[in-house]
Amino acid sequence: MEKINPIGVFDSGYGGLTILKDIVAQLPQYDYVYFGDNARTPYGTRSFETVYQYTLECVQWLFKQGCPLIILACNTASAKALRTIQQKDLPALGASKRVLGVIRPTAEIIGTYSSSKQIGVLATKGTVSSGSYLIEIEKFFPDLQVYQQACPMWVPLVENNEYETDGADYFVKECIDSLLDQNPAIDTILLACTHYPLLMKKIREYSPADMTILSQGKIVASSLADYLLRHTAMEQQLSRGGNRLFYTTDSPEDFDNHATTFYGANIVSRHVDLDSGT
Ligand code: DGL
Repeated sequence: MEKINPIGVFDSGYGGLTILKDIVAQLPQYDYVYFGDNARTPYGTRSFETVYQYTLECVQWLFKQGCPLIILACNTASAKALRTIQQKDLPALGASKRVLGVIRPTAEIIGTYSSSKQIGVLATKGTVSSGSYLIEIEKFFPDLQVYQQACPMWVPLVENNEYETDGADYFVKECIDSLLDQNPAIDTILLACTHYPLLMKKIREYSPADMTILSQGKIVASSLADYLLRHTAMEQQLSRGGNRLFYTTDSPEDFDNHATTFYGANIVSRHVDLDSGT
């Protein structure tokens, strides 16, 4: 196959496909490689060091596939690994390469959605404990009050295909109630985990009818489009063949069966063994 320079999109599992879908819809001309570390998901309950190591291995693999630009379409990896990779690893991995996350583009715009200036952030334990959203939102909207709630059962519900079952209702209601108990004036809820849009129907059901509920796909896609307009040297490195390649560290059969619901189109993936690099 002809050599391509795709945009790499990474997540611990399937969640990043909800971001890829919106990126591809907005920027269909480029080639994309999606990489899900399904064999080691979830990342949300793991230590900083582990999330950093796993994310770095996946970033290195994506660079080997020819990606000049990688989006960490995973809040947990963006919270726990992005800064170290950008500051410590990127200079050695290739000065012209870039790795971007999903937290900053979201923080840059979140304040425009809230009238009460009270917003809720639902995320993994790792993202919540990193405090990354509090730090980033404060930079752009210092007058916003941000309340966080970890939802440790939500990623397993999604990864195990249980997100539409009656069993999921208990865990969705429990987290929404805990968030709103912190401040009933919250009028905007950010789904700060790329797996959570799959639970949107139930999240709406257990939230007040006038609540604004934001997922990140379109926000990240618009931010990437803007980034590429401003960084023409990067934009010119990207190949434009419309290729979409999918890789997983776990079983491709499982990935293909499951990933279609996240991505909305049929997927044929290939297995990657990170130890051998193939
Ligand atoms: N999808 C990831 C995120 O956005 C988290 C999933 C996980 O816990 O691995 O945070």
